[in-house]
Amino acid sequence: MFKMKSSFLCTNCGNITSKWFGRCPECGEWNTLEEQEQIPQPAKGIKQNKVKSFAPAESSKAFKIRDITYSNNLRISTGIGELDRVLGGGLVEGSVVLISGEPGIGKSTLLLQLCQSIDASATLLYVTGEESVSQIKLRADRVGVDSERLFVLNETNIGRIIAEIKAVNPAVAIVDSIQTMFDEDYPSAPGTVTQVKQSALHLINIAKESGISIILVGHVNKDGAVAGPKVLEHMVDAVLYFEGDKQQTYRILRAVKNRYGSTNEIGVFEMGDAGLREIENPSELMLEQRPKGVSGNCAVCILEGTRPIISDIQSLSTPTVFPSPRRMASGFDYNRLSLLLAVLEKRLGLRFSTQDIYINVAGGLKADDTSCDAAASLALISSLKDAPVPENLMVIGEVGLSGEIRSVFGIEQRINEAARLGFTQIALPFKAVGKCKGKYSGVEFIPVRSVFDLLKLLGI
Ligand code: TYD
Ligand code: MG
Repeated sequence: MFKMKSSFLCTNCGNITSKWFGRCPECGEWNTLEEQEQIPQPAKGIKQNKVKSFAPAESSKAFKIRDITYSNNLRISTGIGELDRVLGGGLVEGSVVLISGEPGIGKSTLLLQLCQSIDASATLLYVTGEESVSQIKLRADRVGVDSERLFVLNETNIGRIIAEIKAVNPAVAIVDSIQTMFDEDYPSAPGTVTQVKQSALHLINIAKESGISIILVGHVNKDGAVAGPKVLEHMVDAVLYFEGDKQQTYRILRAVKNRYGSTNEIGVFEMGDAGLREIENPSELMLEQRPKGVSGNCAVCILEGTRPIISDIQSLSTPTVFPSPRRMASGFDYNRLSLLLAVLEKRLGLRFSTQDIYINVAGGLKADDTSCDAAASLALISSLKDAPVPENLMVIGEVGLSGEIRSVFGIEQRINEAARLGFTQIALPFKAVGKCKGKYSGVEFIPVRSVFDLLKLLGI
């Protein structure tokens, strides 16, 4: 007798297998495979249509790259400088951008503010599946949004949303959030892989056909990945993560994928009573909250793309009560921490093995390039010896396995930022000092050859 073959769908990445596995062979997540009797297929007519609209007839002709032209105003400025910076200069016409972040981080607030700040002649459509239109109005009043050209739609049925997008024909449509949308041709619940993928496909389709820019909001799961399918990240043109500690007021917008720009840029915002405020000078904000005369803190200059940001790298070491000491790193690479501890222990004979060590980069920034090694080492030594690092001292350099301090990229940008913010002593790899001497007034450059010289900076 004919038996219907069942298949298994991974709720994380959307991979389909014919057998059940405890771990998805595609994305490696555990317990994410769910049985489905049949892969749901829409009626034939609908499917053919979709394929057709994805590949319009004229796209089958190849063009010479020299003959291809594009209009100069392909990008729309959002009016929010920090957002434009992360997008690579503004929203590209017909692009689909996914903004994801934890609930309550400020995604809806940011996008609502965008509706006000964007070019006043642009019509906008804000589709919400999470809040009622009056709730949106309440928030809009709070953050001062009353644009004449902003339309709000409360809907979760993607077919009706598409119809409304066509009717309103906005320059930008915002869909908050993609996990609440559903396609009635599919039986599964909103938020499932199939629904998220199908809804996104419809929206991408209309964006490419009509040149409307679409911004999708996506939730993240507890691991920080966009909840539901990873496939969503592959489908869209840009993926931005909105991050930050909810206890603190500042937020960082980071591009993790961008087809039309660099992924190095970050945008910094502060959440206040009237919504999000751009922070053009994040270093100043970070430095305002520096503790003075406390051991374990060292200023560090992180290059985020082309933008230098000064923050504090903080270390705390306490005698351990565990058989194996604890190591915790936040904003700093855990393995890099182990490496630095090993170098300091071997080369300087410091006893870190009896200590629990915590390291943290203030402000939720990530010090993941090796230029922060020397500053991290100094913070570690400072905490262990309980000797504060001079307040006006900045250290730049990579630590090698022999304990040598090596040169890094972007030294000049980092020095400029440090000098601008009033650092008067800058410790640099020996070779770099020669190039910088005399260029900056009021700044003393201290050459450091190895981790031994770091001890001298602390006066030990
Ligand atoms: P929201 O944009 O709703 O977050 P998301 O869409 O990412 O879930 O932001 C909600 C949080 O922001 C909430 O905790 C309150 C805070 N908030 C302010 O502090 N000030 C404001 O003006 C607004 C509108 C929100
Ligand atoms: Mg929201």
